[in-house]
Amino acid sequence: MAASALERRRAEELRQAIEYHNWRYYVLDAPEIPDAEYDRLLRELEALEARHPELQIADSPTRRVGAPPLAQFAQVAHGTPMLSLNNAFSDEEVAAFDRRVREGAGLAEIEYAVEPKFDGLAVGLTYEDGRFVQGATRGDGYTGEDVSANLLTVRAIPMRLASADAPRRLEVRGEVLMLKKDFEALNASQRARGEKEFVNPRNAAAGSLRQLDSRITASRRLTFFAYGIGAWEGTELPATHAAVLAKLAGWRLPVNPERRVVKGVAGLLAYYRDMGAARPALPFDIDGVVYKVNDLALQARLGFVSRAPRFAIAHKFPAQEEMTLVEGIEVQVGRTGALTPVARLKPVFVGGVTVTNATLHNQDEIDRKDVRIGDWVIVRRAGDVIPEVVSVVLSRRPRPAPPRFDILARHPVCPVCGSRVVREEGEAVARCTGGLYCPAQRKQALLHFASRRAMDIEGLGEKLIDQLVDLRLVRNPSDLYGLHQDTLAGLERMGPKSAANLLAAIEASKHTTLARFIFSLGIRNVGEATARDLANHFGSLDALMDAPIESMMNVPDVGPVVARSIADFFLEGHNRGVIAALRKAGVRWPENRLQAPAAGPLAGKTCVLTGTLAGLSREQAKARIEAAGGKVAGSVSKKTDFVVAGADPGSKLTKAQELGVTILDEAALLALLGEKT
Ligand code: IVH
Repeated sequence: MAASALERRRAEELRQAIEYHNWRYYVLDAPEIPDAEYDRLLRELEALEARHPELQIADSPTRRVGAPPLAQFAQVAHGTPMLSLNNAFSDEEVAAFDRRVREGAGLAEIEYAVEPKFDGLAVGLTYEDGRFVQGATRGDGYTGEDVSANLLTVRAIPMRLASADAPRRLEVRGEVLMLKKDFEALNASQRARGEKEFVNPRNAAAGSLRQLDSRITASRRLTFFAYGIGAWEGTELPATHAAVLAKLAGWRLPVNPERRVVKGVAGLLAYYRDMGAARPALPFDIDGVVYKVNDLALQARLGFVSRAPRFAIAHKFPAQEEMTLVEGIEVQVGRTGALTPVARLKPVFVGGVTVTNATLHNQDEIDRKDVRIGDWVIVRRAGDVIPEVVSVVLSRRPRPAPPRFDILARHPVCPVCGSRVVREEGEAVARCTGGLYCPAQRKQALLHFASRRAMDIEGLGEKLIDQLVDLRLVRNPSDLYGLHQDTLAGLERMGPKSAANLLAAIEASKHTTLARFIFSLGIRNVGEATARDLANHFGSLDALMDAPIESMMNVPDVGPVVARSIADFFLEGHNRGVIAALRKAGVRWPENRLQAPAAGPLAGKTCVLTGTLAGLSREQAKARIEAAGGKVAGSVSKKTDFVVAGADPGSKLTKAQELGVTILDEAALLALLGEKT
């Protein structure tokens, strides 16, 4: 059934409303209604069009979702050629440009319209009677490709011009680009789906626009800025370029707000510096600024030389991307022992500085980009951001291809201290296991060792550790116990009094607990609670150091990853060396030795437990007896010194009575252990 007059009117109302809100959102960046309301409008229009297909007109905003794929793009001959600009790279070249213009114009001073030079791709949009009819790429400047369906998916491009005074025919020239944030998001999703990432926003914009399937273009976020016109028919052309841009903006075409009108070379160069400073913070990439003679009549008089206008020039910024050679890949060890691969580059001038190295972050990054020694790579330095290797230029990879770079294969041991290097499962980084011993980790390890919840050495803070390490007075924690009063008193911000206090604190720290000591070692993944659990479970440091991984996993909250970290730590001989030195220096703690040397009230005594004790479990009783130097045996013999009998004792009690072994009840045991009931 055909649409009623009411429905036709409603459809038109909706088209206009949707396009208005597109403009508010995508061009002005100032939406008036919430997204949900916008979605409702769009759905209402879709429903109307579904019911009445004759309402599905060419310039309906419902078409912005893309159309079925094309076999190929049609060719479009540009009515006015889309030419390129000459470039200036220095202030002198800009001055020379201005001189030529002044001479050509016979004027003392020229007024210029100045704009950012957008780093995207040029397109021409044709509007007839205010309606979008075609959009084309620049191509070779004379013939481009018809990418209308793709351009319609770019919400910043209006399907209709806003006002009734639009020319009968208008060709808008401008740049399609991808905002930096949309580029980052696109690459993140490409990465997540295991697809190839784009090198930069310009490539991403070009790749997205030149899709035969415009539904793919629709799924990418592109935007557009108009910077000029090709054809203009039917109404009078304004007198200046700035006025043309103002007209375009009035018709709701997106025109960049960074444009200005300036006079003379001084004005040009001031704009260049301002935009250079603004560049890193702009939401899109620019590769320079463009200077255009503002007066259109003068533009026409100046004309063109070969393929570029005499009335305009691009003043380029230093490139943010350059190509260079990876001369080597070195590995740096950080404060936490993480090994960071760094590409040593053939020096290259990029983003205004000479870059000689760039971090490759970790093995996953190396794998993802497949950077190898001897490769040519694209290096990028944007603003003050640290330089990065963007991608490898595979076509320039030497043959035969150099091997893949594998951190662990190249560095099985730490380049700083020679300790083993491991990469934990699920971890991106490889690490040195020489925690206490590795100079790269020294300060961090010492700071942790001395911290309140570890060995609690009051007064040993960051500043002091910096001095002690920098002056090579302390290399690892055991060196702390050999420090002298005079040495300490001579350090910055120290005097005899504070030195004495520190020495006292160091001395006091020697009496510690096993839990604190384990925590102080700074073993990866072993925090305070885990250290306590380990101490309780193993009872002695030696038992922990020699424990197999499986038995570590009997400790609460210790899984394979934590167990592996502990094992790796103690496997490293350097760490064992430091621990031995600490013990030698007098660091000690009470241990529950399983084979206890004779000490304590039950030293050398053998006990047998039978029946149920009221206040102690069998395990606890055993632990107490052992802590007191005694041994717990399973059966009664002549060698048994005591039988501890609780409620419902078994045959052991009878046996004890037969053999005349001393029988203790719970209270008597506790009394023997030196505990009051
Ligand atoms: S005006 C007659 N203005 O730079 C030349 N071009 O080499 C008309 N571009 O392909 C170009 N920003 O894609 C002009 N504000 C701007 C521009 C700009 C970027 C690109 C354009 C063109 C190239 C010229």
